[in-house]
Amino acid sequence: MEYLIGYRQWFNSYTSELLKDLQYKPDNFHLKIVHTDRVIENTILISESLKLNDFAHKSAVLSALFHDIGRFNQYCRFGTFKDEISLDHGNYGAEILKEFTVLDDLSSQMNEVINNTIINHNKHIMPDNLSDENTVILKIIRDADKIDIFRIISEQNKMEQSDRTVMLDLDRNHAVSESVYKQVMKGENVKYSELKSFDDFKALQLGWVYDINYPISFKIIQQHNYLENIYKSMAQNKYSDDIYYSVKNYVESRLKDNQ
Ligand SMILES: [Fe+2]
Repeated sequence: MEYLIGYRQWFNSYTSELLKDLQYKPDNFHLKIVHTDRVIENTILISESLKLNDFAHKSAVLSALFHDIGRFNQYCRFGTFKDEISLDHGNYGAEILKEFTVLDDLSSQMNEVINNTIINHNKHIMPDNLSDENTVILKIIRDADKIDIFRIISEQNKMEQSDRTVMLDLDRNHAVSESVYKQVMKGENVKYSELKSFDDFKALQLGWVYDINYPISFKIIQQHNYLENIYKSMAQNKYSDDIYYSVKNYVESRLKDNQ
C-alpha cells in the first residue's frame, strides 16, 4: 500500500484547504472523508476476494480514494450533494484530478482506467465500451460505494434528526410513493429527480441490491444488517414491506448461489 501514501497526502491537503473556506456544515464534508476511507476498505475486501493482479488492485484502490473527490468542492460551492441542481460529481472529480495533475505519474493505461471509473461510478447505467479489466474495477467501486452508503443511511437513521443534506433535501414525512414503489419492485433504476421523500430515497437504496455485482458484497451487506436497519426506519406499510421482503429474498438467493 506504499503507493497510496503520496496520493493520500494530496487528498488530505486538497480537502483541508477547501475546509478552511467552507461556509456550510462541516459534518457533511467530514462524512465524505470517512466515506472515502470506508470505500477504500470495501474495495480492498472485494478486490482480494477476486484475486486481482497488481495493476487492477492498485487501479481499484486509487479509484476508491478519488471516486468522490468531486464531492468536496461540490459541497463548498453549492452546499448540496444533489447533482441535478449543482454538477455531476463523477465528471467533476475527473476534471479536478486533471487540473491538479494528480494522476500524471501513473502509466497512461492506469490513468485512463481510474478516470473512466470515477466518471462512471455514479451513472445510472454501466457503460458498454470499457475494457473487461476496467469493467471489473468499475463494478468493484460501484459495489464498495453502495455498501458504504447503506452504512451511512443506517447510521443516519439512528440519529434523532437525519441530516437533510445527506438525505438530499427531501421531505422526511412522506411514505414511499406509488411510482417509486412500482419501479423498485420491477427492479428498475429510479431516478433521483423522481424522489419525493426520505422513504422514497430509502426505497431506491434498497433497490440497489439488484445492481450489486460480487458475492463478497452481498456478504458484507448481510453481516451488517444494513437492509433491515433501513427498512425498520421507514413507515411500515405494504409498500415498504413488499420492497424489503423482495430485496431480502434476492440477497438470500444470491448468497445461496455462491455457497
Ligand atoms: Fe460518488
